[in-house]
Amino acid sequence: MEKIILTGDRPTGRLHLGHYVGSLKRRVELQNSGEYDKIFIMIADAQALTDNADNPEKVRQNIVEVALDYLSVGLDPAKSTLFIQSMVPELTELTFYYANLVTVSRLQRNPTVKSEIQMRNFETSIPVGFFTYPISQAADITAFKATTVPVGEDQMPMLEQCQEIVHKFNSVYGEALVEPKILLPENSACLRLPGTDGKAKMSKSLGNAIYLADDEKELKTKVMSMYTDPNHINVSDPGQVEGNTVFTYLDAFSKPEDFEEFLPEYKSLDELKDHYKRGGLGDVKVKKFLIKVLEKELAPIRERRKQWEQNIPGVYEILKKGSEVAEAVAAQTLADVKAAMKINYFDDGALIKEQMEKYGNK
Ligand code: TRP
Repeated sequence: MEKIILTGDRPTGRLHLGHYVGSLKRRVELQNSGEYDKIFIMIADAQALTDNADNPEKVRQNIVEVALDYLSVGLDPAKSTLFIQSMVPELTELTFYYANLVTVSRLQRNPTVKSEIQMRNFETSIPVGFFTYPISQAADITAFKATTVPVGEDQMPMLEQCQEIVHKFNSVYGEALVEPKILLPENSACLRLPGTDGKAKMSKSLGNAIYLADDEKELKTKVMSMYTDPNHINVSDPGQVEGNTVFTYLDAFSKPEDFEEFLPEYKSLDELKDHYKRGGLGDVKVKKFLIKVLEKELAPIRERRKQWEQNIPGVYEILKKGSEVAEAVAAQTLADVKAAMKINYFDDGALIKEQMEKYGNK
């Protein structure tokens, strides 16, 4: 069986370090591993509109931002198909058919939808499109017969719901759909990178995000104001590394060779942590190290972004070509789905014969 990746992001803002360690970095590694037959990366504008119906301009502006972020981290249009969700109308058609296989109570139980409803104060007025977006996400995944979906931990309920839809479809109509597997980050600090304020999630609305597009100055300011151990007041005080955002970021980003390069007094992150716990190591020193570690990773990304920013028509061209490729693949799956559901009236020669016989046509 072919190994196929599909994943994507809502274009509601620039992508940040949480996206990067949670998914983007992995995608690039998977892309360059050569182990996958096809890779589809989708800008989920239709999904973004499910809770931004009154703000289409925001979605429109962020298509290019997300595309620039994709290209700058190293997603390569020669190896991965980058496309826009709404340019593939087959996805909407699949969603409508899958909707028959999902109950309202099942959607209500989806933990991601539940918490998003709370976050957006939708309790009393949930848009139907938003409520049903897990079904549309199942369409996104299955349309490409994806076997592997690399995403962050928050997408787990979406994948479970997709797997249920695949089972249900295949058992009712016959095996037409492929069951996908989720691929989560291996490093636990990457599963859910906290915001710079130590809050559980990095997000634009909380104002605690470091963006891939941030310049060196912004990066420095954000790291220097990061949340650490509130009880670590004097350098000599013993400090805590658990729940200390600076150390969580080092867990996510630092590599053994970074110590040799930027902080040779320490051999490893464990040694640095031990010193912090004992006391005698100041936050500023650790933060300065983190800045160097992040800067090493982000400088080439920023550089590549600057180059693509000078070629906006080229970016749109990549998305246009990618959307054409994606549509051809999704159209084939839709044809398989319709055949399985027996709604392929004009492609089914046996159907006309059957009806002719029924009415005694010669
Ligand atoms: N829900 C994802 C997000 O919020 C975006 C998305 C839409 C997606 N369809 C998908 C991710 C299919 C993986 C697979 O970022």
